[in-house]
Amino acid sequence: MSQPWALVSALHDELSAVLNLMPDEAVQKVAGREFWVGHLQGREVIATLSGIGKVAAATTATLLIEHFGVQGIIFTGLAGGLGQQVRVGDVVVARSLIQHDMDARPLFPRHMIPDLRKDAFLVDPDLAHAVTLSAAEVLQQVHQHVPSRTLVQYGLHQPCVHEGLILSGDRFVSTAADSAELVQRLPQALAVEMEGAAMAQVCHDFGIPLAVVRTISDRADDTAHVDFKGFLRDVASHYSAA
Ligand code: ADE
Repeated sequence: MSQPWALVSALHDELSAVLNLMPDEAVQKVAGREFWVGHLQGREVIATLSGIGKVAAATTATLLIEHFGVQGIIFTGLAGGLGQQVRVGDVVVARSLIQHDMDARPLFPRHMIPDLRKDAFLVDPDLAHAVTLSAAEVLQQVHQHVPSRTLVQYGLHQPCVHEGLILSGDRFVSTAADSAELVQRLPQALAVEMEGAAMAQVCHDFGIPLAVVRTISDRADDTAHVDFKGFLRDVASHYSAA
């Protein structure tokens, strides 16, 4: 039997858009989570929600690997933009991920995962590249996926794809001061979210490939919470499905 791929979304609207593309999904409940087992374009897949935050995401990744035997995980969700060139509506594909709130100083350097003696998790470069190519294709034809009036409403002009460092932590970053501090501490960071680096640690431990694809919903500043839900429903869910 072939091993399925996992398609993990951070939020419900994105997952629904993916489930709409699966003709035969059947739900299984494990550890209070729902896993939809079925096919997407003829391939065996398991679709689920990550849960919010690092612990929830790590548990979900562990279940996907140990209980469902997935061969890899593709994770889509939203993130706040940190890199100067990263705008709302752009997509960031992770090349590496760091848990920005890991801090065991003075025993270990800031951000280091003590058990692994490393801070950044590098993802599978071939998978990241493949995902970047598909994201770029989707964004080139963004008008086919998102209605024009929605693009105007959210001020989305020529959205593009970036590859690089994504930060994860158990905090929704919602002040300009907080995001400036993160950028000062980790200047390579392109985006911040709440799950990716936790999944990366689990996938590292099990030797499973992971891709993390994030649509930028806000600039992680004082207006970060505004229209988060509208953006998710109107824009990000279409991106994820595409
Ligand atoms: N996901 C989307 N926007 C975010 C933000 N500003 N901080 C953390 N996670 C996010």
